[in-house]
Amino acid sequence: MTTDVSVRVMRPDEWPAARAVCIDAFDDPGIPVLLDLQRTSWSWRDELAFVAVRDDEVLAMVLFTPSFVDAPDRVVDVLVLSPVGVRPDVQRQGIGSQLILGALEALRDRPEPLVFLEGIPDYYPKLGFRRASTMGFTPASTRVPDAAFMAYPLPHYDPSLRGALAYADVFWRADAVGLRG
Ligand SMILES: CC(C)(COP(=O)(O)OP(=O)(O)OC[C@H]1O[C@@H](n2cnc3c(N)ncnc32)[C@H](O)[C@@H]1OP(=O)(O)O)[C@@H](O)C(=O)NCCC(=O)NCCS
Repeated sequence: MTTDVSVRVMRPDEWPAARAVCIDAFDDPGIPVLLDLQRTSWSWRDELAFVAVRDDEVLAMVLFTPSFVDAPDRVVDVLVLSPVGVRPDVQRQGIGSQLILGALEALRDRPEPLVFLEGIPDYYPKLGFRRASTMGFTPASTRVPDAAFMAYPLPHYDPSLRGALAYADVFWRADAVGLRG
């Protein structure tokens, strides 16, 4: 953990800086499209945007978006982590891990039982994510590699929960589900 870095909910006025950091982190033309659609979506929640800051300078951002699990008996509200980006010059210093762990800690009081993501298979298990298929979940697309489809149980998680992840529409509008080509 980098002690001079703190994690907190993003202030609305920090959006331009946080957006820029995330775009720089990825170098992927799809990221600004996704971010701008998220920021203007019905599914945007100020309290689900987190930043890692040093002296109030944004170094990294992670967003969580309300989505759904289609369980056999009901639709269950869940969260999807995407995207997370750390400024390129400070990557691999523990800031991404600190941000994600700090955000997950802050989400412990929420009613959703799970946080899902598609991500680097070697990285997220270090932070407590598990392969979602082993927990009884199917991804939102056949284009999501099994090893990349992961879930993090929050306090309201019940291991009997099963079902298919259904993303909020914003991820489809941005064509940000699974791998293409
Ligand atoms: C992935 C990311 C959020 C991790 O944050 P970070 O602060 O750089 O990483 P941390 O220092 O907390 O953790 C380091 C670990 O992250 C993983 N990691 C970081 N960058 C990686 C990359 N390009 N490829 C694979 N694993 C990577 C590794 O497991 C690494 O451990 P190691 O250094 O022992 O190999 C950050 O590197 C980033 O923004 N990358 C570009 C955007 C991106 O890929 N976002 C996530 C998509 S799932």
